[in-house]
Amino acid sequence: MSDLHVVVLAAGKGTRMKSEVPKVLHRIAGRSLIEHVLQTAASLRPNTTTLVVGHGAEQVREQLAAQSHLRFVVQDPQLGTGHALLQTAPLLKGQSGSVLLLSGDVPLLRARTLESLVRVHVEAGALVTLLTAVVDRPYGYGRVVRSQDRITRIVEERDASRAQREIKEINSGIYALALQPLFGALEEIGSDNAQGEYYLPDLIGIYRRRRKVVAAYRIDNASEIRGINSRSELAEVSTMVRQQKNEELMAAGVTLIDPATTYIDVDVEVEADTVIHPCVFLEGSTKIGAACEIHAGSRIVNSTLGDKVVVRNHSVITDARIAAGASIGPFAHLRPGADVGADAHIGNFVELKKTTLGARSKANHLTYLGDATIGADVNVGAGTITCNYDGRVKSTTIVEDGAFIGSDTTIVAPVKIGERAYVGAGSTITENVPAGALAIARGRQENKDGWVKKREHDVQSAKSKAHGDKTSAAKGPEHV
Ligand code: UD1
Ligand code: CA
Repeated sequence: MSDLHVVVLAAGKGTRMKSEVPKVLHRIAGRSLIEHVLQTAASLRPNTTTLVVGHGAEQVREQLAAQSHLRFVVQDPQLGTGHALLQTAPLLKGQSGSVLLLSGDVPLLRARTLESLVRVHVEAGALVTLLTAVVDRPYGYGRVVRSQDRITRIVEERDASRAQREIKEINSGIYALALQPLFGALEEIGSDNAQGEYYLPDLIGIYRRRRKVVAAYRIDNASEIRGINSRSELAEVSTMVRQQKNEELMAAGVTLIDPATTYIDVDVEVEADTVIHPCVFLEGSTKIGAACEIHAGSRIVNSTLGDKVVVRNHSVITDARIAAGASIGPFAHLRPGADVGADAHIGNFVELKKTTLGARSKANHLTYLGDATIGADVNVGAGTITCNYDGRVKSTTIVEDGAFIGSDTTIVAPVKIGERAYVGAGSTITENVPAGALAIARGRQENKDGWVKKREHDVQSAKSKAHGDKTSAAKGPEHV
């Protein structure tokens, strides 16, 4: 949109959150509140985006450091929403066009709604256009006071008369504002109210008294303008965001067996015909291919899965890649840098970290593979452990294509097991194994023929000797 400047107010403390974390950094479905707002704002392609920060300003800036187009102004002390917007004067005064003013704590707004707000504003030639909605429970919000249908002013809950509190039309705290007269008018806002703050909504009354055009854009879907002021509102809005995400995925062909207990972050992608069982968590930037099956209790974070991957119950997968057709779990743990090849198998109680497992390779039971590069068609026997850490440094293990590692092998890195080599079960491998060789590194077995019989004989004779001693002892002192 041309000549549009977005300003997001995010300086307030959020007292009711009872938190060390600034309110706008609390998270919903994988994104902070402020990220939700910024993402929506960005889709309008504004000329500039400015955040007013104050409480926890450093934390907010740090969190958003990657978004280099953002501009920050600090409001300190925080004297109200009117005062907050005034802080952007050094950046915006003297410019033309409109400001779209957003609140950092109103994350559900849709881009379409904002586009309509700006359009209505420009078409009406208004100095301010207010986004409003009619709600059943207006408690806590500023009320829209109208006379003969035209807005005269906004009155805050705490300043409202009993009659005004009955008004169901509320101020969303979202506005489109003409830039030219804005900063002059902001200077006129006073702080004579219940909170002793400079209220931005007072701008409406100021413009109305000057007989300027003030407009409102009233929306039907009031849930869009839900602000978050407490933990319980955070939870409620989280549920709404999740529901919406789930609906989108189902509409795109994903089966969710129980949407109410499926937790999918907003940025997650899932392709059609994938089936997601209850109590599954898909988080961050996770991408899941088509026709996968993710079983109950699994958590997948920032990971990429190809098509037809099966993740069995209670697997935890973080910063990992899994190629098409692979099967994971139950109870598998894929840690950062795990890279599982096509049609590979990872079974129960198997942990991978910074490890590549080639196509069709198998590690089916009770295994730890860390800092390892394992080729294709490798069989990793039950209980195999890479000893990648000597207390000081991490070392790497290489296992080439087609190797067979017997059960209960410990591989002391750095070491390499060559192509199609075999390692005998129970080995402790400390030296490279050449391609095609068999390595056995364990105590050699010795069989002692007839040992059991001999032992029984020894036991028997020891017993009878002891018995003989007892009998003689009973005979009395003459033997002593
Ligand atoms: C505000 C509106 C109210 C509206 C409601 C919608 C005012 C006076 N009231 O009330 O009419 O119905 O939003 O949610 O504007 N902020 C600053 N600096 C400050 C104070 C606030 O940056 O000095 C920021 C906050 O971080 C927040 C936003 O402005 O993002 C709104 O502030 P908040 O205190 O939540 O206002 P409400 O009481 O909800
Ligand atoms: Ca608020």
